[in-house]
Amino acid sequence: MKIAIIGSGHVGLVTGAGFADMGNEVICLDHDTQKIKLLTRGKIPFYEPGLSELVQKNSEKGRLHFTTYMKEAVQFSQVLFLCVGTPPKDDGEADLSAIENVARSIGRNLTEYRLIVEKSTVPVETGAQLYKMIARSTRKKITFDVASNAEFLKEGSAVHDFYNPDRIVLGVETPRAKQLLLKIYKPFKVPILVTDVRSAEMIKHASNSFLAMKISYINLISQMCEKVGADIGKVAEGMGGDRRIGKAFLNAGIGFGGSCFPKDLAAFIKIGEKLNVPCNLLKEIAEINKFQKIHFVSKVEKALKKLKGKTLGVLGLAFKPDTDDIRNAPAVDILEQLRDRGAKIKAYDPCATAAAKNILKGIRFARNPYEACLGADAALILTEWREFRDLNLKKLKRSLKRAIIVDGRNIYDPQTMKENGFHYYSIGR
Ligand code: UGA
Repeated sequence: MKIAIIGSGHVGLVTGAGFADMGNEVICLDHDTQKIKLLTRGKIPFYEPGLSELVQKNSEKGRLHFTTYMKEAVQFSQVLFLCVGTPPKDDGEADLSAIENVARSIGRNLTEYRLIVEKSTVPVETGAQLYKMIARSTRKKITFDVASNAEFLKEGSAVHDFYNPDRIVLGVETPRAKQLLLKIYKPFKVPILVTDVRSAEMIKHASNSFLAMKISYINLISQMCEKVGADIGKVAEGMGGDRRIGKAFLNAGIGFGGSCFPKDLAAFIKIGEKLNVPCNLLKEIAEINKFQKIHFVSKVEKALKKLKGKTLGVLGLAFKPDTDDIRNAPAVDILEQLRDRGAKIKAYDPCATAAAKNILKGIRFARNPYEACLGADAALILTEWREFRDLNLKKLKRSLKRAIIVDGRNIYDPQTMKENGFHYYSIGR
């Protein structure tokens, strides 16, 4: 199958390279000429494990191409996947201007039937609007279809997730669209749910908000655990053992971040409001998430008695491990709060330092965990990178001025830390 990917970011590039790897011919488009130049040279503009190899392999085999021209992408492909960003506006509503621009551009370049598939996370009913926008932009009457095929890739494991989805959701309105999408997904031996476009759009937003709800729920319970001396790890294990609840996404921490959950939750609330459906549950998910970061800052303050003038060695900036993405990273919010309250910060992240330097002002950066903690009053763990789980605890203790660790990701066993002579504070334990 000949496929075009419109928007070569985290989602588009993984999807495009993955489809190419499955034997399709793929062209990836982006309006950012610098990015396309890099990709044409086999370089990836962000860190995602396994992606660089996948892109290089499929480019060399001649199955993966790059362009900045919509005309080329539309002429080349039978199916176009829209993977452009849908960032939040100031009020939380999804900004669909990128989707609208590409819709018009696709419409202008249509000369024969094409299937246009939304992969970006969009509010329910965007598919219907997309259809109208494309129809209005075509020069003559041309048949086309709009479908929805939400992505469920997680940053940091996106390549693995591409090959191993739990399910595939196809929102279609015509037999032709269904047949084309089923052909593309034929090699995947996983359940495929075929539905209408509106339901498919709803599935994506409902899924992300549900996962965010699980995280806020366990974070709320973690606060109760702290009050009574219960262990959130054991509580989550006990809850997750019930198959109706499930173990995943019950890790208490410093709240969820990234480019998806916070934005999608805000957009979902807006959708509910527009539809006159009270969304207090969704709003509370966001409130708990905000509070969890404030709570962590108080925990640090409590451990150190006061923050002003104290030096903190920070381990982790990315919103999760195995990515250099710091968009909406809880670490950024927490460090700004600590800095504004007079703490001096030296931070280390295996991948995200360059990105953090652009937005985090007034803090210093280190080249390794021990350098970050050298002479510090406490070490803070803000991202659960594997590297931090394998730290040399003796060396870490020698680096610190005071043996205090405040762990926002519960990566260590409290007893082990006590035996190693640390004052160890974590979440819900
Ligand atoms: C999320 C969804 O998991 C994907 O299915 C979806 O495709 C993607 O959004 C998207 O809409 O594009 P992602 O944002 O990459 O993926 O990362 P997650 O692994 O879901 O983590 C999100 C945040 O939740 C991170 O800050 C993470 O630290 C936090 N989290 C996750 C917890 O605090 N506790 C958990 O138990 C799990």
